[in-house]
Amino acid sequence: MKKQISPGALLSPVPAVLVSCGTVEKPNLLTIAWGGTVCTHPAMVSISVRPERFSYPLIKESGEFVINLPGESMVKTLDFCGVKSGRNTDKFAVCGLTAVPAAGVSAPAVAECPVSFSCKVKEVIPLGSHDMFLAEIVAIEAEEWLFEESGRLALEKMGMVAYAHGEYFSLGQKLGSFGYSVRKKKPAAKSAPAKPPKKPADIPSGVQRRKNSERSNSAKKKKSAPKKTGHKKTGVSHPVKGGSR
Ligand SMILES: Cc1cc2nc3c(=O)[nH]c(=O)nc-3n(C[C@H](O)[C@H](O)[C@H](O)COP(=O)(O)O)c2cc1C
Repeated sequence: MKKQISPGALLSPVPAVLVSCGTVEKPNLLTIAWGGTVCTHPAMVSISVRPERFSYPLIKESGEFVINLPGESMVKTLDFCGVKSGRNTDKFAVCGLTAVPAAGVSAPAVAECPVSFSCKVKEVIPLGSHDMFLAEIVAIEAEEWLFEESGRLALEKMGMVAYAHGEYFSLGQKLGSFGYSVRKKKPAAKSAPAKPPKKPADIPSGVQRRKNSERSNSAKKKKSAPKKTGHKKTGVSHPVKGGSR
C-alpha cells in the first residue's frame, strides 16, 4: 500500500547542470536542478531560479544563460557551485574552470563541460519560491570526441549526472531505446549495404561540434590550461548536506 506524503519537489531523477551567466570577463555559475526540456520546436528549456540568487539579475537583465552538462568527474564542482554564491566567491577561479565564449550569446560557457546549450530568455514566470525562465536554445556545442563516425552524438560517452532526492548519481545500465517496445525486429541481413540509423524526431538538429583545438584555443585566451576535474585547487569537501534549492 502507498503512503501519502506532503507535496514537494520530489520528481526524480532530474538533470543537475551548471548554468553560466554574466560575461566571459565577469562570469558566474550556479547549479540548477529545477530545469528541463519544455518544447521540441522551437527547442526550449526552463530553469527555475530563486530571485535571491546572485545569478538571478545577471540572467534577467541580460536575457541569456548557458546550460553546461558536467561529466561525472565534475560532481564535486557541481555541488560546490550550488552551495557557494558568486556574491563572495569566484567559482570559476576556485574550481579551476574556464569561461569561454558560447555560440550565439554573450553569456560564457564552461570549457570543461563537454556539452553546452546557449539559451535566450523568452519569458520569466514568477511561481512562488522560484521564477521560471523559459528560454529558447539558440545553439548547442558538443566536444568532437562525443560524436561517432556516423555523426551520431553519443551523449552517453560523457558520463551524464542525474540528481534524485538530494543525491547525485551516474546513469546505470541502458534499458532500451525510444520506441523499442513496438519496433519490429529486422530480418537477418543478407548482403545489402547497411543503412545509416534513423534519427529520432525529438533529438534537436544543428548541434555544433566543438573541436578540441577550438575549445582549447579560446580557453587559452582566458588563462592557462584548465583542469579536467574540479576542485583540484582547493580540495573542497562537501560543505552542506541537503541545502534548500
Ligand atoms: C544540486 C543542486 C541543485 C540546485 N538547484 C537549484 C535550482 O534549480 N534553482 C535555484 O534557484 N537554486 C538551485 N540550487 C542552489 C543554487 O545553485 C545556489 O544557491 C547557488 O549558490 C547560487 O549561486 P549564486 O548566488 O552565485 O547565483 C541548487 C543547488 C544544488 C546543490
